[in-house]
Amino acid sequence: MLQWFDRENGAVGIFDATNSTRARRRWIKELMEEHNVDPLFVESWSDDQELIMHNILDVKTGSPDYEGMDPEKATKDFMERIKKYEQVYETLDEYDSDLTYVKVVNVNAQVIINRIQCYLESRIIYYLMNLHIKRGCIWLSRHGESEYNLTGQLGGDSNLSERGNMYAHKLPKLVKDALGDDRPLTVWTSTLRRTQQTARFLPYRQMQWKALDELDAGVCDGMTYKEIEQTYPEDFRARDENKFQYRYRGGESYQDVVARLEPIIMELERQDNILIVTHQAVLRCIYAYFMNVPQDRSPWMEVPLHTLIKLEPRAYQTFETRVPANIPAVSTYREKGQTTLGEKS
Ligand code: F6P
Repeated sequence: MLQWFDRENGAVGIFDATNSTRARRRWIKELMEEHNVDPLFVESWSDDQELIMHNILDVKTGSPDYEGMDPEKATKDFMERIKKYEQVYETLDEYDSDLTYVKVVNVNAQVIINRIQCYLESRIIYYLMNLHIKRGCIWLSRHGESEYNLTGQLGGDSNLSERGNMYAHKLPKLVKDALGDDRPLTVWTSTLRRTQQTARFLPYRQMQWKALDELDAGVCDGMTYKEIEQTYPEDFRARDENKFQYRYRGGESYQDVVARLEPIIMELERQDNILIVTHQAVLRCIYAYFMNVPQDRSPWMEVPLHTLIKLEPRAYQTFETRVPANIPAVSTYREKGQTTLGEKS
């Protein structure tokens, strides 16, 4: 990790280890300082037995350490581990007052912070404060096929097409069947017509977020890819070169969208059972966060219309299920170098 900081300009590294004694933390602090890295210690502290048991069953028995082991045996082993740690463990306290740290007590019942010195550290703390260990699901759907989708135009605020409306009618049953019970959901849409029309028959509480609006194509809003290639050939090529960072003139890049999605991601980390009805680019960004898709690939992912995606974030991975509505729709997917729509390869 230190080599990565030194030679590859690494920005934030996570050193996942049980740095459970003061001496060990001191050693880390000194070593990091030699390399001009500011350590931020994170301690998750718990004395709530129910919570600990829940966490062991939910998370630890599925961890790579216990792969293939009987869950009962894994639980017993993990409890033994805890006992061993208890013998040597020195919690973060006044002895560590010169360290930068955050101590999360009983999963965010209390958060103690010490010597937070920069913006990045405060963002990391904000992120940690939003994490929880509940077992919720996130549901994602693009809006139904729109009039602009039919003509291959980008952006805008058009209405749903006839088939898009069919999807809106079918969505409540699709969601209900996939949910499997009468669990309440909260539906988030963008402020654009096509997402609200798609969600209008869903019998759940709804919220509109400006942050969920489609990537702003600036001067290219309302154009087709072909028109963009003809009018702004250099921009068209530049976008293909680096689709994540390319920012439309007077508009946004994928990187900009990721930044504006921060409150959405935080709320998703806090809440359970949210259904998001949004747009191609925005959905790619949310999906990439949960599925760990790298930035050079995420803007090129295929997210078809008329498909409900279920994500189940768990400790070591996120499980995904796709439920197609079986209502035909145009493809809005453009391959690199192409101006026409639809997958060729
Ligand atoms: O074509 C539908 C759409 O949502 C457009 O409004 C948007 O500009 C585009 O997809 C984003 O996809 P891409 O980044 O692949 O151009």
